[in-house]
Amino acid sequence: MSTVSKSYAEHSDPVIDYCTKLTVKLDPLQQKLQDATIANHKMFVMLGAPEILTIGQHFLKLIHGKNCLDVGTFTGASALAWALAVPNDGKVISMDVDHSALDQIGRSIINECPKSAQKIDFRLGSAMDTLNSLIDEGKCGEFDFAFIDADRANKTLYYEKCMQLLRPGGVILVDNALAGGDAVHAIGDAVITDACNRHISADERSHSFLINTGDGLHVAFKA
Ligand SMILES: C[S@@+](CC[C@H](N)C(=O)[O-])C[C@H]1O[C@@H](n2cnc3c(N)ncnc32)[C@H](O)[C@@H]1O
Repeated sequence: MSTVSKSYAEHSDPVIDYCTKLTVKLDPLQQKLQDATIANHKMFVMLGAPEILTIGQHFLKLIHGKNCLDVGTFTGASALAWALAVPNDGKVISMDVDHSALDQIGRSIINECPKSAQKIDFRLGSAMDTLNSLIDEGKCGEFDFAFIDADRANKTLYYEKCMQLLRPGGVILVDNALAGGDAVHAIGDAVITDACNRHISADERSHSFLINTGDGLHVAFKA
């Protein structure tokens, strides 16, 4: 049986530790935000896995990405990761229905780096409303990168909205792609996860692959 786990969570897989130690090099501000979230939020397991955030930053640099969609803010760890990876004129639109974790923990830490903070537009409200308003404002094709990490039930719809908003060659990362129990056999909550994975994998508008890092990552490049 394979281990599916975020590196900061309790696990007993030496391969996860080996890969993380060798390749995850968090910026000190990211480390501070991660430590503060783990120490102060009872739902800290929602925090993006640092290995996933690192992969996203590498993809952003590889495609020279500037404009990012961050679906699910929580304390702001993913928004900060993208802000650090894009150039000075880059922008991150980060959306969440609830800003309490951001206000309690993340915002003051992110503000310690004004250069990164000024790139992030934190939007309060349902991600579906925010994505729909961006589409209505005529912003389809203007984004380079999307990270989908909010409510599981809407994952497939968020993927569809992000496909509209991305330019060809843009990257969508769908987090928690092996989460929710037994994703391989689509049991329990993993039924939704499995349905989203199958939807992306059958989508001829993108090239995708599914990897076992963190609690699973589905990577899709818009063709
Ligand atoms: C897993 S956390 C995001 C973690 C964050 N991306 C990170 O890297 O640390 C999921 C977030 O999605 C938010 N959320 C849940 N339902 C939502 C919705 N319908 N629209 C927008 N955000 C939602 C939750 O409030 C929560 O903060």
